[in-house]
Amino acid sequence: MARSEELKIETPLRVAELADAQALVGEAGWNQIEADWRIFLDLGRVYVVRDGNGRVIATAATLPHDGRFAWISMVLVSGQFRRLGLARRLMRRCIDDLSAAGLVPVLDATPAGREVYRALGFQDSWSYQRLTRPARAASAEIADGNINVRPIDDTVWAALCAYDAAAFGASRERLLARLRGRLPAADLCALRGDTIAGFMLGRDGRIASHIGPLIAGDDMVAQALLARALARLPGPVFLDLADAKRATGRWLAAAGFTPARPLTRMLLGRSARFDDPRRTYAVVGPEFG
Ligand SMILES: CC(C)(COP(=O)(O)OP(=O)(O)OC[C@H]1O[C@@H](n2cnc3c(N)ncnc32)[C@H](O)[C@@H]1OP(=O)(O)O)[C@@H](O)C(=O)NCCC(=O)NCCS
Repeated sequence: MARSEELKIETPLRVAELADAQALVGEAGWNQIEADWRIFLDLGRVYVVRDGNGRVIATAATLPHDGRFAWISMVLVSGQFRRLGLARRLMRRCIDDLSAAGLVPVLDATPAGREVYRALGFQDSWSYQRLTRPARAASAEIADGNINVRPIDDTVWAALCAYDAAAFGASRERLLARLRGRLPAADLCALRGDTIAGFMLGRDGRIASHIGPLIAGDDMVAQALLARALARLPGPVFLDLADAKRATGRWLAAAGFTPARPLTRMLLGRSARFDDPRRTYAVVGPEFG
């Protein structure tokens, strides 16, 4: 095996190397597919480490959000190259590049990752749970005559993106556009009269469909969106729900969801969040923000 200092961090990941990157996702048991890597290739940056044969054996990705902050994710190291310091070196490179660009690095950590990131200067901000529903579980129903849930179309897109930017703390229209159409059953918005009261998108995955983001004005809207999507999704579903959203958490438990793992949103050198806790129900995912 190459000595760790001989293993260079390079960028970008080449399209021809997407299969290598997907092999790392499979090894870790994660849910991403090639379409997710392509989002990082087109809207962010993918750092890689290659072995002596040119095979990609470690990755990290950054995704800037509108000039203020940026995500770090997809930190993956192939089994036989672990504990050589590659993840730490990749993290430092991402942090250095983002800091040089004036962006606050943000990430979502598993309990094991959290200790490593704390040592790098990241601070806890808030927490959420990865919830999973097996295939064909019963869906909870809801009825509220004042909420009009309907598929997202071009007539609402601009207003929806503005609503999202206010809730997320940055415009992420290009990311949302890349999600749109990947899980049509989840492409929903909620209107009260002519006003956007919430919306949801989703994406297909290696293991499960993933619902997120779910941005809504209140629990009734969030549940109305969820009920409509879940009734149309027969397969397994992932959803990353903010811990603070307890009523919707109980509703999801009744719909067959169980907690898979806790995640902590962390920011470098600060704990104050950029987004609006009231409207943030489910994040896009730990890899995207
Ligand atoms: C987590 C992962 C990226 C670590 O990669 P790595 O290159 O082996 O990590 P490093 O060698 O840079 O380790 C940095 C530090 O992280 C901690 N660490 C790494 N792996 C660890 C493990 N299995 N158990 C406990 N601590 C661990 C240690 O503190 C380590 O420092 P040390 O070796 O000096 O003790 C790798 O195991 C992996 O790909 N796992 C699956 C995907 C994943 O969980 N990614 C992180 C999501 S938050």
